[in-house]
Amino acid sequence: MNLEEYIRIVPDFPKEGISYKDITPLLQSSEALGFCVKSFASQIKSEVDVVVGIESRGYFLATLLAKHFNTGFVPIRKKGKLPYKTLAEAYDLEYGQDELEIHIDAIKPGQKVLIHDDVLATGGTAKAACNLVERLGGEIIQCNFLIELNFLKGREKLNGVEVKSLLSY
Ligand code: PRP
Ligand code: MG
Repeated sequence: MNLEEYIRIVPDFPKEGISYKDITPLLQSSEALGFCVKSFASQIKSEVDVVVGIESRGYFLATLLAKHFNTGFVPIRKKGKLPYKTLAEAYDLEYGQDELEIHIDAIKPGQKVLIHDDVLATGGTAKAACNLVERLGGEIIQCNFLIELNFLKGREKLNGVEVKSLLSY
């Protein structure tokens, strides 16, 4: 399957000069979703205890991966959304900073964790997610993404972590 056919490129969204990678055509296709899950699964050789998804676009595939690996799913959310006690990590936005949070009991020390998000851009989001998982004692076995924007070099920010993506631009 040529997965790229399921990514709609929207020029100048959300603002001029940005070439937005719209994954909704992929989400609309059960064949494309199934292909993604199989492709991700074929890149993971070790055991997975828990799948972590990053709000919000990371959730779509992360829950399917959890189902595939027969594990639970843990959400990392943007600041102020999780109801119980949390750990927080700041990350850089284009202008300013934001925070990601995880529940303090979401991961047990030593659990093997797969982190998923839809896009790896500058890597700030994924790096903050990795820090949260590691602070809870999780062992990150891989971070995977549908799309990697190579020119933003997010992979370099995640050094030491195995990074996989299905498509790169
Ligand atoms: C987008 C994308 C990734 C992140 C990548 O999420 O879904 O999570 O940016 O950027 P980075 O590698 O430069 O940190 P966004 O924060 O726009 O929110 P959303 O997923 O809720 O739409
Ligand atoms: Mg996101």
